[in-house]
Amino acid sequence: MSEEQMNDSTFGRLFIGMMIILVVLTIIVAVAASFASTEVNAKLDERSDLENTQATALRIAPVGKFSATTIAAAPISAAIMSVEDMYTSCSACHASGVLSAPIMGDAGQWAGRIAKGTETLYSNAINGFNAMPARGGNSALTDDNVKAIVDYMIAQSK
Ligand code: HEC
Repeated sequence: MSEEQMNDSTFGRLFIGMMIILVVLTIIVAVAASFASTEVNAKLDERSDLENTQATALRIAPVGKFSATTIAAAPISAAIMSVEDMYTSCSACHASGVLSAPIMGDAGQWAGRIAKGTETLYSNAINGFNAMPARGGNSALTDDNVKAIVDYMIAQSK
């Protein structure tokens, strides 16, 4: 075998080796991409129920009533969000006592409030009370949503 022929066959083997590596890399990238997209799709599915409710409310709203408030006022169905999920509208203050909000779970801070009666607490949570904003600042919550969260906060704070 001449030296030139050796070089050709070495090149051939090298070339085939490179091709195999490239094919394997392509497969790895394709598999990784498919995993990543599955995760993203799962997240989109989680969100879509709530978003669909809001989008439907917007589409069926009377002509002339298209506005940001229509979207914001779309009721959050308890079937879609649990009371624990809805409480995230309140936890910004009530988990740590921001603005001296009574901390959920602290029976001492809640006893005096509970003594005022559930109806008063409902109405103060819905309409606002001193530094406590109406509906905790989340206008998408219905009266019933807010009452359910107040019930939950009271139950956790006895
Ligand atoms: C921006 C902070 C903030 C958010 C968000 C917030 N609260 Fe409050 N909340 C307060 C503060 C401050 C008080 C105490 C007001 C006072 O007694 O002067 C309070 C008091 C309350 C009380 C007791 C009212 C009373 O009559 O003693 C209830 C019930 C309550 N909040 C429910 C909620 C609910 C339900 C949410 C969510 C939908 C929520 N809060 C979100 C700040 C907040």
